[in-house]
Amino acid sequence: MALLKIRKFPDDSLKQVAQPVENIDGKLNALIDSMAQTMYAAPGVGLAAPQVGESMRVVVLDTDHDEPGKHLLKLINPRIVEAEGKVIWEEGCLSVIDYNADVERAARVLVRAWTPDQEEIEIEADDLLAVALQHEIDHLDGKLFIDRISRIKRELYRRKLKKLIREGKADERPSKVRI
Ligand code: NI
Repeated sequence: MALLKIRKFPDDSLKQVAQPVENIDGKLNALIDSMAQTMYAAPGVGLAAPQVGESMRVVVLDTDHDEPGKHLLKLINPRIVEAEGKVIWEEGCLSVIDYNADVERAARVLVRAWTPDQEEIEIEADDLLAVALQHEIDHLDGKLFIDRISRIKRELYRRKLKKLIREGKADERPSKVRI
């Protein structure tokens, strides 16, 4: 199984609203397995299909890399059905080179999703998992965490990225926790 290429900001595929999945089949499951492998290799806490150029509402997440696969979540058409409280978390992203910023999110979420076994499940989450679920579902809606920071900060990041690319240093220094 080959690792997938992770698209980086400002790639257009990161701005598209992803399509709902209508069939859970072998082809989809193969994509999900490749996504999980790509996430662990990166390494990152989560990966959404648009990040590998697939317009599908699919995400993989694992907040515990000590035992890869044991706590792996494979979510199809995930949606937030309840959200409460507020938390500020320093986020990074596999698609955003060398940058972290504080983002405000709901502190707790209830997410409903389908699994590759065609079951509908509910996940109650707080802490990093709650943040990661919201971050990944944002990817499905064509949003990055840098769309949730101030315009000034975003502009400063754009300039920094241009400089990194110009100097050939883009992606040399991975940011801390990447979701
Ligand atoms: Ni991300």
